[in-house]
Amino acid sequence: MPRPKISIMGAGNVGATTAHWIASKEIGDVVLLDVIEGMPQGKGLDLLEAAPVEGFDVDIKGTNNYEDTKNSDIIVITSGVPRKPGMSRDDLISINTKIVKEVTQNAVKYSPNSIIIVVTNPLDAMVFVASKVSNFPKHRVLGMAGILDSTRFRTFIAKELDVSVEDVDAIVLGGHGDSMVPLPRYSTVNGIPITELMPHDKINLLVERTRKGGEEIVNLLKTGSAFYAPGAAVAEMVEAILKDKKRILPCAAYCNSEYNVNGYFVGVPIKLGKKGVEKVIELKLTDEEKAAFQKSVEHVKSLVEATEKFL
Ligand code: NAI
Ligand code: 2OP
Repeated sequence: MPRPKISIMGAGNVGATTAHWIASKEIGDVVLLDVIEGMPQGKGLDLLEAAPVEGFDVDIKGTNNYEDTKNSDIIVITSGVPRKPGMSRDDLISINTKIVKEVTQNAVKYSPNSIIIVVTNPLDAMVFVASKVSNFPKHRVLGMAGILDSTRFRTFIAKELDVSVEDVDAIVLGGHGDSMVPLPRYSTVNGIPITELMPHDKINLLVERTRKGGEEIVNLLKTGSAFYAPGAAVAEMVEAILKDKKRILPCAAYCNSEYNVNGYFVGVPIKLGKKGVEKVIELKLTDEEKAAFQKSVEHVKSLVEATEKFL
């Protein structure tokens, strides 16, 4: 039986790190594509040469040619520009809309039955662009952000309570921006809501740190944005799809009547399996949580509108 094929568009920090996580978990064969000549080939070969040491039996190939991505099961789009200190994710909209449009057009020509996972920022708007350009059914286009935002929240909770990360679950809804909505009521340590384990003001500090989690890394790195945790988050999505795990994960998925979003991609908990987005899970929200979610969705809508002149 052929191994699943995952093509990663953009072999920069997130693309290459995603390939690393996917290979080390032996999820499938990887093609790394970039516009820079030699770079994806070099990274692909270097990673492949780690296989005998690490013992993973997958093929990894770097390329500048879309033909090599033919018949991929999953297309991951990381191509684009990351932000620098002082920039918001939204500042990337003009250049990244053009890149995501071009990459999606080329990728779907060779892999018309694939599932697309978008990573490029501003995330929720770029998923919209990939959906519009690919014209794929909505359940086969989604974005990675909620797992990253939640894993940051989980890390901060585990550190604060001095407990194992293994026992900490958390959920973050909404757009991947400063108005994202971490949900303490649904964030737990082995089933115990953190609202029972920490004072309100401490939780608020962790929520705020989560909202600014991307910026915290950008300010430290100074030359780009996060890639280890983002890459791990993408690999988790790829594995859920290819192994039909039916994981419940926060991802940017198409919502219409769900949460009254009316036709946009935003971060919500979904069931992720071999068909892609198999279900959007609707959580009961308090009035305060609903208002915060609505504010975040309004921001996503304004970003989507801003893409239109570049499409
Ligand atoms: P990077 O600059 O390291 O890599 C981007 C790569 O895309 C570069 O190698 C570049 O040559 C390539 N590229 C540019 N135009 C291309 C085209 N037309 N076709 C093929 N490849 C092309 O950036 P990094 O750190 O990998 O980030 C990539 C994107 O992902 C950024 O937009 C960043 O903001 C976003 N991001 C989103 C996250 C999320 O949670 N959704 C998390 C982390 C990053
Ligand atoms: C992050 O949150 C850059 O969106 C990316 O790290």
